[in-house]
Amino acid sequence: MAEYKLLLKHSDKPEFRTFSGYVANGGYEGLKKAVEMERQGVIDEVKASGLRGRGGAGFPSWIKWNGLPKEKKAPHYVLCNADEGEPGTFKDKMLMETCPFQLIEGMTIAGYAVQAEKGFIYIRGEFIDAAKSLRRAIDEAYANGYLGKNVLGKGFDFDLYLHLGAGSYECGEESALMSSLMGERGMPRLKFPHAPLPTVSGVWEKPTLINNVETYSCAPHIVARGGEWYASLGASTKNSRGTKIFSVSGHVNNPGNFEIEFGTPLKELLAMAGGVKGGALKACIPGGSSMPIITAEEVDRAIIGYEEMQEVKSMVGSGGCMFFNEHTDIVMLAWRTALFYANESCGKCTPCREGTKWMLQILERIIEGKGKPGDIDLLKDVAGQIEGRSFCALGDAAAWPVQGMIRQFRHEFEYYIEHGKSMVTSERAMALRP
Ligand SMILES: Cc1cc2nc3c(=O)[nH]c(=O)nc-3n(C[C@H](O)[C@H](O)[C@H](O)COP(=O)(O)O)c2cc1C
Ligand code: SF4
Repeated sequence: MAEYKLLLKHSDKPEFRTFSGYVANGGYEGLKKAVEMERQGVIDEVKASGLRGRGGAGFPSWIKWNGLPKEKKAPHYVLCNADEGEPGTFKDKMLMETCPFQLIEGMTIAGYAVQAEKGFIYIRGEFIDAAKSLRRAIDEAYANGYLGKNVLGKGFDFDLYLHLGAGSYECGEESALMSSLMGERGMPRLKFPHAPLPTVSGVWEKPTLINNVETYSCAPHIVARGGEWYASLGASTKNSRGTKIFSVSGHVNNPGNFEIEFGTPLKELLAMAGGVKGGALKACIPGGSSMPIITAEEVDRAIIGYEEMQEVKSMVGSGGCMFFNEHTDIVMLAWRTALFYANESCGKCTPCREGTKWMLQILERIIEGKGKPGDIDLLKDVAGQIEGRSFCALGDAAAWPVQGMIRQFRHEFEYYIEHGKSMVTSERAMALRP
């Protein structure tokens, strides 16, 4: 299977970033169709499409869209998660830089469907080019009557705001993101069933729809071409429909973003990225750094789909796909990953705040050649105490990679502890040692 470019179809055309270029290439057909439909009809198209959230969890999007009150008693908001902090993932950045109107159109369609009069794009503060691209596009959309009062003369008002975050991974977690948007510390809040869903009480305690950049960017295509058409893509999989953008990096000849239809074999994604560089394939983290690592043999038989990836005990996640060649020091990789999560832990709950630091300390002494015989089991124990016991999913995100690396490459950890050094001789990996 080759690439299937739907969202990225025009990403290499600079004119697509302008209002006139976007419209000339079929842009805004979805919104024009949407505003002629009943609001519920738009939500029904999203349901028919089988779209699942592209931010990582793969939650069915229509359930969120359908979850806001139909009888409006307070302002409704549409919120876009453009924080994209998961290491290995850079597809939202590209979508915002090269296809800003697609996201704006998707959010406007969502705004119409859920009766929201305001939308917010919470964008990672470091994404300066993406923010500039969006700023220009938002201004042009206002100037042409596609945002603001009485959009397209249909009596529907929709304002869109761009909010730059301060660069914290945790602010991508939706409840922390909402706190941050409201000017509070970027820490997570209690979630359903202990607190109402964001669709009932979200930002400023008002009904809020929150989706990822890629998720909203699908909406114009779903409405313009119909949910059934969209659902025909990926039909070979159990329950994954449409396309997915994968950010491919690591030891590959041609890193970048590749859009594929669900059901594509993972090894074909590797081939699209030019194959492995510098040696034979050793491992792959398919969906962003928090997803469990898989071996070369598993890459060979993995099919890209939410349920299908579980057959190799990993996940689609956010689509940050990293390939590693035979010279990769997996223990060093575990240490580097643990360092990230220990730094990004917000400190609110004990299992994650303490556990991520402990995992880091143990891994540090192993790669310094001072590992102790019981360290692997201790690492597993600490990871197990974090998993499922933390206040938000960052705890799981920190535990899974370490657990996965021990499960798949335990012999490398054992070699380090026994010999005080790595069993692979990657100079670059050694240079990264603390
Ligand atoms: C620690 C953490 C970081 C996250 N970072 C992001 C992010 O950068 N972008 C994103 O879209 N979702 C992120 N998520 C997932 C969001 O909480 C949320 O599920 C998502 O924005 C929902 O959108 P979707 O249904 O379109 O996927 C993160 C979750 C956690 C636990
Ligand atoms: S798991 Fe706990 S400490 Fe870690 S980021 Fe979430 S709330 Fe903060």
